[in-house]
Amino acid sequence: MKTIIFPGTFDPITRGHQDLIERASRLFDHVLVTVAFNDSKQPIFTLDERIELVQQTTAHLSNVSVKSFSGLLVDLVASENAIGVLRGLRNGSDLDYELPMAQLNQQMLASCETVFLSPAPEFAAISSTLVRQISSLGGDVSQFVDAAVLQALQTKSASH
Ligand code: PNS
Repeated sequence: MKTIIFPGTFDPITRGHQDLIERASRLFDHVLVTVAFNDSKQPIFTLDERIELVQQTTAHLSNVSVKSFSGLLVDLVASENAIGVLRGLRNGSDLDYELPMAQLNQQMLASCETVFLSPAPEFAAISSTLVRQISSLGGDVSQFVDAAVLQALQTKSASH
């Protein structure tokens, strides 16, 4: 069984992430989405909230599962017996950020492949950072995130 790990902060999951997960679910036997604690990024959603939103937005995909993760990605790849890591590439900046990580992960674990997928063009400019910013300023992000995420963003704004 070929498992690919899709790691990220998912603060929150966007339609771009969902597009990549759907693409990967057609290419691999199992897609394991791992939500990083990532305290350094000070996420607006708790780990449990981020996991729940990934679960809700991928529930229709039977070969996708979700769990939390902390520590080194290569250790997770080894313990899950996965092929490696899936990352999205939207532009050249993503490549500059991703390539060193892919190379170092491969140096640490030779069998660790990084598979890059591009989202559909309409999702290429979406990032969790911009979604959070637009939403916090009262903008409409319904094109960029699932209805469950939209609701969660509105609830978060109302409580601040
Ligand atoms: O969605 P993000 O925030 O870009 O995800 C970043 C993430 C969690 C994938 C990255 O921070 C990561 O790989 N963390 C694990 C720590 C690790 O293995 N670091 C070495 C990479 S060479």
